[in-house]
Amino acid sequence: MSTRTLGLIGSAAGGLERVRSCLVEPAIARGWQVAVTLTPAAGSWLDAEGERDRIEAVTGLACRVEPRLPGESSPHPPIDCYLVCPASANTVAKMALGLADNQALTTVCEAIGGQVVPVVVFPRINAAHARQPAWDSHIAALRGAGVHLLMGEEYWPLHEPRSAPGKDLPWERILDAVDLITAGHSSSNTT
Ligand SMILES: Cc1cc2nc3c(=O)[nH]c(=O)nc-3n(C[C@H](O)[C@H](O)[C@H](O)COP(=O)(O)O)c2cc1C
Repeated sequence: MSTRTLGLIGSAAGGLERVRSCLVEPAIARGWQVAVTLTPAAGSWLDAEGERDRIEAVTGLACRVEPRLPGESSPHPPIDCYLVCPASANTVAKMALGLADNQALTTVCEAIGGQVVPVVVFPRINAAHARQPAWDSHIAALRGAGVHLLMGEEYWPLHEPRSAPGKDLPWERILDAVDLITAGHSSSNTT
């Protein structure tokens, strides 16, 4: 059986600290190889907990934060699906605008424009982020580019800032969506 590789992009939002145990390890159990790239802020959060090393140990791949030098080759294999989770409001806005000022955004912005590999995004935001005047246009731009947005009451009901949502991310539902989207994508690519 060929290996399918999930490119997991993590940004500095709630739930990031549990990404290894709740997303990386369950994805591996579902048959994915997982290649993790973090924004610089997310990298410093996970470095502080020793989690970046643990992610490398379970994935067997570099957990990328810094971009490679021009003479270096990429430490990650080709990706079959990108999952941006958790996606901060900041990272969602940058993806919509095509800003690629870190390694995580560089890879995912290229994937969005490339239109070959599916891109799935779970915005982990609050109600104030969603009321920011540019938010709706960012979401419309990403939808228009074919990005799969895991949003709405069934994924993440919005809460007011500092009101402590008191719930975990819907990890299994997110992975179910990734499996469904990639299954549909490979069948539509082979017909
Ligand atoms: C403890 C803490 C929790 C945060 N949680 C969130 C969050 O759940 N969603 C969000 O959009 N931003 C959150 N932020 C703000 C982002 O970390 C901040 O906007 C950061 O610049 C995002 O950087 P990145 O998108 O490059 O990872 C949080 C910040 C802190 C300090």
